Amino acid sequence: MSRKVILSIASLCLAAVFARTVPLNGNITSTTPALSPELFKRAVSAPYVFTAFTTASESNLFVYTSNDGTSFSLLKGPTYTPPSGLIRDPSVILHTDGNYYIAYTTNWSGTNFAIASSTDMITWTLRATVSTASSVITPINTWAPEFFKDPRTGQINIIVSLSTGSYGPFLPYVFTARDSSLTSWSGPVVMSGISNAGLGYIDTFPVFFNNQYHIFAKAETNGKKTIEHAVASSLTGPYSFVQTGNFAGWGQAEGPSITVLPNGRFRLYADGYSSGKYIYSDSSDLYNWSAYQTIPSLSGTVRHGTVLKQ
Ligand SMILES: *[C@@H]1O[C@H](CO)[C@@H](O)[C@H](O)[C@H]1NC(C)=O
Ligand SMILES: *[C@@H]1O[C@H](CO)[C@@H](O)[C@H](O)[C@H]1NC(C)=O
Ligand SMILES: *[C@@H]1O[C@H](CO)[C@@H](O)[C@H](O)[C@H]1NC(C)=O
Repeated sequence: MSRKVILSIASLCLAAVFARTVPLNGNITSTTPALSPELFKRAVSAPYVFTAFTTASESNLFVYTSNDGTSFSLLKGPTYTPPSGLIRDPSVILHTDGNYYIAYTTNWSGTNFAIASSTDMITWTLRATVSTASSVITPINTWAPEFFKDPRTGQINIIVSLSTGSYGPFLPYVFTARDSSLTSWSGPVVMSGISNAGLGYIDTFPVFFNNQYHIFAKAETNGKKTIEHAVASSLTGPYSFVQTGNFAGWGQAEGPSITVLPNGRFRLYADGYSSGKYIYSDSSDLYNWSAYQTIPSLSGTVRHGTVLKQ
């Protein structure tokens, strides 16, 4: 038997143990059973990481991992509880320093969002509280900061929904990291071409594809509450909407997050909030989406988070 075969049998055994050891449900009242260092290493190195808050608490981070982007296992939850305030909408990246960073909403109202980091996704440290008040805007609400590493410029940005009134109208604004510490940010610069009619747009998630910036954002205008699609040739716009209303059959949903599947297709995840579902839908071109399905076992437990392919 070659060494390679032995190794792959060993990893299959490990996979079987792993599948039994880590709970497949998102039991929000229990903590993760301790994993052996070896199993822990395997869980952490799974291709997909999902950071979320849950229906049970807006102040506790839950971290899940997955091999295929469909079946998620709890890595640790609750894990991080920030020193103060909330941890809604946690958006995760794996930075060049080898650490994971999350950006998250700290309060329903206010002029900041926060960033925490972790070496292992279990122990998190507050790194920065970023003010969103400036001569550009003094927002009443600062919601859903979303990390976006721009493949064209290499810059790390955070897109955040800022509101000039109480709970709207919202528009997306871009902050850009001044350096690799991710503690100092320039901005905000508004994403132009997006109407703030009614309550505007929240939860903007960008993707760079085919030399264009695509955004998926929730329209709060006229009670639509659907995730709409706009494109631009620059991150800050001007954007033109190409698909609006319930174009993909997702219904009322928010907190979109898009990743790439092992087969190269895109997968959008979204929080169905009023339906209680956490949905996903696939596309090869960002225009034509499959009928949505719900994330096995986590749907109904998790709320607005981000799935990272590491
Ligand atoms: C979650 O885990 C706790 C503790 O093990 C258990 O008492 C409870 O029944 C579980 N809840 C669900 C919904 O599985
Ligand atoms: C949110 O902000 C309000 C107003 O500043 C403050 O009273 C409240 O304590 C904050 N909530 C949390 C959870 O920190
Ligand atoms: C949309 O995608 C489906 C498969 O997901 C495919 O059968 C169909 O032809 C596509 N339609 C268009 C207009 O690209």
